[in-house]
Amino acid sequence: MCGIVAYVGDEKAGPILFDTLKRLEYRGYDSAGVAVRCDDQIEVLKAAGRISDLEKSYLERGSPGDRMGIGHTRWATHGRPSDENAHPHTSGGIAVVHNGIIENYLALRERLTDLGFAFQSETDSEVLAHLINYYYQGDLARAVAKAASEVEGSYAIAVMSADSPSIVCARKDSPLVIGLGEGSCYVASDIPALLPYTRDVVRLKDGDFAVLEGGKVHVQDISGAPRELESERIEWDVNAAERGGYPHFMLKEIHEQPRAIQETITGRISEVEGDVRLDLGMTSWDMQTLQRVSIVACGTSYHAGLVARYFFPRAAGLPVDVEVASEFQYMQLRPGTLLVGISQSGETADTLVSLKKARTCGVRSLAVTNMVGSTITDIVDTSIYTRCGPEIGVAATKTFTSQLAALLLLGIRLGRGRNHLLADQGRKMLAEFSRLPGLVQSVLEKRDQIREIAKTFAHQGSYFFIGRDFLYPIALEGALKMKEIAYIPAEGYAGGELKHGPLALIKDGTPVVALATCGRKIQSNIKEVRARGAEVIALATEGDPDMAKIASMVVELPATRPVFSTVLCTVALQLLAYYTADELGCEIDKPRNLAKSVTVE
Ligand code: AGP
Repeated sequence: MCGIVAYVGDEKAGPILFDTLKRLEYRGYDSAGVAVRCDDQIEVLKAAGRISDLEKSYLERGSPGDRMGIGHTRWATHGRPSDENAHPHTSGGIAVVHNGIIENYLALRERLTDLGFAFQSETDSEVLAHLINYYYQGDLARAVAKAASEVEGSYAIAVMSADSPSIVCARKDSPLVIGLGEGSCYVASDIPALLPYTRDVVRLKDGDFAVLEGGKVHVQDISGAPRELESERIEWDVNAAERGGYPHFMLKEIHEQPRAIQETITGRISEVEGDVRLDLGMTSWDMQTLQRVSIVACGTSYHAGLVARYFFPRAAGLPVDVEVASEFQYMQLRPGTLLVGISQSGETADTLVSLKKARTCGVRSLAVTNMVGSTITDIVDTSIYTRCGPEIGVAATKTFTSQLAALLLLGIRLGRGRNHLLADQGRKMLAEFSRLPGLVQSVLEKRDQIREIAKTFAHQGSYFFIGRDFLYPIALEGALKMKEIAYIPAEGYAGGELKHGPLALIKDGTPVVALATCGRKIQSNIKEVRARGAEVIALATEGDPDMAKIASMVVELPATRPVFSTVLCTVALQLLAYYTADELGCEIDKPRNLAKSVTVE
């Protein structure tokens, strides 16, 4: 996730670009850049690091007379944070900022290289600059439309040319908003960035192109037909706007999950081949001779690893062990192992120390992380990025479900590479995988029901979460979320394990959340706790005929394969923890005693 901005109008462009970029910094902040047009020249300023540092360089430089420009704040997905990889990217007199992922960039890059274009960066986005330059013959909108028609993937772009007084914007599957001012037009990835300047905005639709010139905006739809401007007046207050109108970053990030999972899987699924496109740096032989997978991680990331423990043996015929990273130093690492470290931050000390063992023991290592260029990526042989954008709330939400998505992709790739999973099985699995973002959206729509449940039990003083199979790790994660942000003692248990001790804690009114979308055996565990007075909140599949009879209340989730229901149950449990913490007045985004990144052992 990155942020883009643009400005055309009567005022000096640079200060407006920097101010709007800073308001988008929550979308990414590893590098930034602006391009402004002065005297038919485009001046570009870009660098790895924070926007405020770049702004200082701009102020030192001057750039008198700039009245239009584009800007970008980056969250690396292709190529590490560096000056070269920062946007805008340029080609001839063209400058482009891009948010999204160009899936066919390798093919386009080869073609453009053959045509003589020289690439300066490792990014997918740079192909856009060269492609637009290739088609540009004085009509910028036309060149952008031609280039866009050849691009697969998602994009929100703002483009300018040294010899044109207009800025052209376009979007597909990435957000873009235009702000309408007096003699000025503004562009940003999100509404909050624009609110200090205007409250009248136009949200571009997929396939729209907009031409901004002299304070005027013309929008045309995907067929090229002019579209009437549908502007709306935004009434939110500016503080809430930073969080996109949500009261907390955590709630915002919970709601970003359909998009985040989509970003994780975009360009990586081939339903035709029934396979996943992931470069693991392993040959077929490497995969076929692999003996086992060992996973190390902490906290929520550890729970993602536990889901892989259930999935990899079935998808890839590989045994898996999972260890909390702080205990891994006491374990043996066997030859023939792939050591996988999972860390959203890529900086968790215990996980880094564990992964270093791979080198000393001569085994292959792989990281699943959200942070391009983080320390973990230097330690391992290969990294898989979850690409879900920065997470501000301390509680991991979208980074966890994106880790699950990335691990499921990894399991399928290993399964296909080892010929354990047949093409047809892969196709069916991936077809269902593609539906996942939409299914997550349906779970989010249960928020009112979940909020009521949260209020009912917020003052009970303890919680149990039970699940079996794929859903046991999710029971652990549900309990962790409840502890972490609502400060309620909560236990996660395998359903079958309750009767071996913890059942003694169940009494009248104890809330037990039963994850019941995966197999029927959980029903007997529900009956066990009901018989001891527990109130059971069941997460069950829509249309389950039994659950209403045995649980106290049922949250119905869309039907899907058990492995994908891990994600759906997670989202419901995140909402439950969130609304409980809210009811109790907890400080949700910064829970006491915790930090987003734990860099000490
Ligand atoms: C999750 O909500 C926590 N903030 C915590 O358990 C976290 O998952 C853990 O510290 C690991 O962090 P990492 O993924 O950045 O390595």
